Amino acid sequence: MAQTITSVRGMNDLLPSDTRRWHRLEAACRQVFASYGYGEIRTPIVESTDLFARGIGEATDIVEKEMYTFADRGGRSLTMRPEMTAGCARAYIEHSMHHAEPVTRLWYQGQMFRYERMQTGRYRQFWQVGCEVYGIADATIDAEQIAMLHQLFVSVGLRDVEVLVNSVGTNEDRVAYREHLVAYFSPLADGLCGDCKRRLHTNPMRLLDCKVPSCQPIIAGAPQLRAALGEASTAHFNEVLSLLEALGVPFREDPKLVRGLDYYTGTVFEMKCYHPELGAQSTVAGGGRYNTLVESLGGPATPAMGFAFGVERAILCMNEPQSEATVDLFIACLGDAARKKGLVLAHALRPLGLRIESELRATSAKAQFKRADKMGAAAVLTLGDDELANGNAVVKHLREKRERSVALGDVPGLAAAIKSLLGI
Ligand code: HAM
Repeated sequence: MAQTITSVRGMNDLLPSDTRRWHRLEAACRQVFASYGYGEIRTPIVESTDLFARGIGEATDIVEKEMYTFADRGGRSLTMRPEMTAGCARAYIEHSMHHAEPVTRLWYQGQMFRYERMQTGRYRQFWQVGCEVYGIADATIDAEQIAMLHQLFVSVGLRDVEVLVNSVGTNEDRVAYREHLVAYFSPLADGLCGDCKRRLHTNPMRLLDCKVPSCQPIIAGAPQLRAALGEASTAHFNEVLSLLEALGVPFREDPKLVRGLDYYTGTVFEMKCYHPELGAQSTVAGGGRYNTLVESLGGPATPAMGFAFGVERAILCMNEPQSEATVDLFIACLGDAARKKGLVLAHALRPLGLRIESELRATSAKAQFKRADKMGAAAVLTLGDDELANGNAVVKHLREKRERSVALGDVPGLAAAIKSLLGI
């Protein structure tokens, strides 16, 4: 026997039994984002490595050790996108979107790639859904996005969603804060983990995000960023908090929330959802304001705000939907002539809005009814010699045990009768 080939570690298949729940979430996203005026953008999976190095930050975990980077045959360094914010900003600049409208609202969904240690909820290929808004500096958009995502999560059945917010201030605020941090941590460096020791010199704010238990008592005493924020950042953040209250979003301020990407300026937030299987991976979404990214990538100075959520993690936290029928009608066919009639009838009925499986194999009536039941068909229509001879058949509603006699010759009438029996 030939040796089998398996999928790449950390990259999963999604089977039809999984994708049904994904479709429910995707439909809710489309509906909610459209209701706020977002248009969908689709960008390439592969971008120039420079885009992520400059956009996300050289000293971040993502750029330092998690990117799938390779040289193409022309010797260019390319990277499979680890996130979408940098790619969206690149497209925003490349297509001069600011010329069309002062405010641009984009949403996206797609696979991202990060070479991470795997566990439930953390994969090397994972899906994100996200939104980015360009052109609004006001706190209103920060609050609107957080409220929109919270509303979306609640509407698809995520339970106990916790919203954490903080402000990381402007680039200038952070220069001063970094100095305070280095002054605080340097004398305590011997007690820090290896990553923290290194970051103390490359990216001291990331120390606040460290999860290593032995670092926690040291981190707990660190000076707070909030105290180092300038007047404008403090006023903006207070406005966000008051708007969130006005919108009725339950939130908690988390002064230690710094996020793992370097482009943030001002408001940052995360949403957590408690699920026994997720454990430490309970952060379902993250985002914030990034007012300097577009300009740093060569575009016009443009304030921006966005977020992304991990689809696998959101799906794990979603309430089980009611089990749904996968087909509306199963046509059980007894004999060769009936199979041919079933094939033709199904072909004619599907464009009229019915999902149909007609039995294409020669199997017993019992096996066919069992199959209809197992696949969760809502109704069964049986075709045999009698039905073919007199042109009438019976459609049975499987769950409600109701039935209706139908004429096979009138396809629109047949479709209408099946739909009215099923209430669709
Ligand atoms: P992020 O926090 O790196 O932010 O990722 C957002 C979400 O993607 C996480 O909260 C998590 O649910 C999911 N995620 C991240 N890594 C993995 C993984 N290895 N496996 C499964 N899920 C994962 C960003 O990516 C920013 N671009 C968000 C943003 C948009 N900020 C502004 N605009």
